[in-house]
Amino acid sequence: MNRATLKNNTFQTINLPELTRVPTMITEDEKKYLYWLARDHVSGDGAVVEIGTWYGCSAGYLGAGLRDSGKNIPFHCFDRFELQGIEIRKARQQGFTVQDSQEGEDILPMAQNHLTPIYPIKLKKTYAADIRWEGGLVELLHLDAPKRWSDILHVMETFLPFLIPQKSILVLQDFGMPRAYALPLIFGALSDYFELINIPSEYSTMAVFLYNPVSPEKLNSQKLNIDDWSSEYAQKIWDQIGVCYTNSSQKSFFNFGLALYFYRNGHKELAIKIAQENKPLLFPEKAILLEKRLSTALWRAAFK
Ligand SMILES: C[S@@+](CC[C@H](N)C(=O)[O-])C[C@H]1O[C@@H](n2cnc3c(N)ncnc32)[C@H](O)[C@@H]1O
Repeated sequence: MNRATLKNNTFQTINLPELTRVPTMITEDEKKYLYWLARDHVSGDGAVVEIGTWYGCSAGYLGAGLRDSGKNIPFHCFDRFELQGIEIRKARQQGFTVQDSQEGEDILPMAQNHLTPIYPIKLKKTYAADIRWEGGLVELLHLDAPKRWSDILHVMETFLPFLIPQKSILVLQDFGMPRAYALPLIFGALSDYFELINIPSEYSTMAVFLYNPVSPEKLNSQKLNIDDWSSEYAQKIWDQIGVCYTNSSQKSFFNFGLALYFYRNGHKELAIKIAQENKPLLFPEKAILLEKRLSTALWRAAFK
């Protein structure tokens, strides 16, 4: 896949195939983008891998894209497949009857039932920190689970040797989501390996990178521990990667992530200043998604 392909946003005109509805955390634009990538752009030089599958919605559209491309490309999904309370509430909000669902329930069988009729996908129940990979080259890596810097690093160390320079593509969900601030910080710091190519939609927090290694030495895990960074370094990395946002409301939402990071790392005044500078433009509907203890504390401190 090349830059021009990835920047071409014709995916928005795609008619998605009809798949059985399952609870999901992805948007219509994200479904279309994943389907379009898998159907029209994955060549088969490597496998497709997803981390963060839940009930299988995104995997379903990736699988349908591979199916409709007529190519027989291996597709592997990793997830802890362990239902959380917040996920039960989310599924309920989407109109699914989940009375019998329990926290901690193994939902791999449900994902498997959804995906089996679509495409032969290998599902693996594992924590991100324990993922091992022996499946050869990887052409498309879709990350929708790891948000902690240490998990992200483990995943990148595991898959980096199997990525194809100038070809493998990394799709990060939640990149623009404030509470997932570790993603822009780490991928900003990894700009020697990953080139941010596209923010395909203003109705999504997804970002698309091309593996374009400039200096592919071993990843330096010490340098990637975001909890040890100086505020100046974090700000520099954030500003560099943040130029991808030209839409001011997306940008202010994104910048709230830096405020959260600073708040968590003890730079409270700086955090409050950034939150105040960015509040007027926050997407109102997305501000609701910030309801989490840390965000609420920052929100109160900045806007009391
Ligand atoms: C946002 S949901 C994925 C949504 C899904 N891609 C969709 O299409 O709706 C995140 C998923 O990541 C998984 N997850 C989160 N943290 C994880 C971890 N540390 N290890 C393994 N799986 C994890 C959760 O079990 C959950 O299924």
